[in-house]
Amino acid sequence: MNKTPQSQEFSLRAAASTDIVAIHNLLKGYSDRGNLLPRSVHDLETNLADFWVIELSGSVVACGALELFPNRLGEVRSLAVNETRTKAGLGSLLVNHLIEQARSRNLSRLMALTYAPEFFHRLGFRTVPKATLPEKVWGICVKCYKFYDCDEIAVLLYL
Ligand SMILES: CC(C)(COP(=O)(O)OP(=O)(O)OC[C@H]1O[C@@H](n2cnc3c(N)ncnc32)[C@H](O)[C@@H]1OP(=O)(O)O)[C@@H](O)C(=O)NCCC(=O)NCCS
Repeated sequence: MNKTPQSQEFSLRAAASTDIVAIHNLLKGYSDRGNLLPRSVHDLETNLADFWVIELSGSVVACGALELFPNRLGEVRSLAVNETRTKAGLGSLLVNHLIEQARSRNLSRLMALTYAPEFFHRLGFRTVPKATLPEKVWGICVKCYKFYDCDEIAVLLYL
């Protein structure tokens, strides 16, 4: 059973421009070790509208983005929880929120590329071949430095 964080302790909200440095630092901690794809400050500024954050005592402790693709496909991207705050339910809270956002935008499928497939399986996603997601693979992955050697696992949830 996933833990439910106490609501008085945190706020889950749309990211603001003042969060960019904190989001960048959060993602960099994982991307430096290859757990997530790196994102530049310029990339975050350009795509800030996709991002949601969890703030705890004035600090951003988790972030995640919902990116839209053709054919009613969405992607959970750049999901990260501060290493000192993992296993407290924050990651699940963010993904469940992104699922709600995806449903409210009338998407039909939500995917992620991840090294933590079990985390997503607990939330209802299933592992699928990357070839079943051509909107992502041929639109975005093809431009990625990992394209020819990608070991991330694709997971998908039908909404
Ligand atoms: C994956 C991640 C977002 C999980 O966040 P979290 O806040 O720890 O997640 P939750 O507390 O909601 O975890 C729910 C359950 O999933 C499990 N889980 C968490 N991270 C996991 C992982 N990497 N692999 C497998 N299971 C995991 C937890 O153990 C927990 O189960 P439990 O209640 O039995 O202990 C976080 O570890 C993280 O930021 N990882 C690095 C970046 C990353 O891999 N992002 C996902 C790619 S898009």
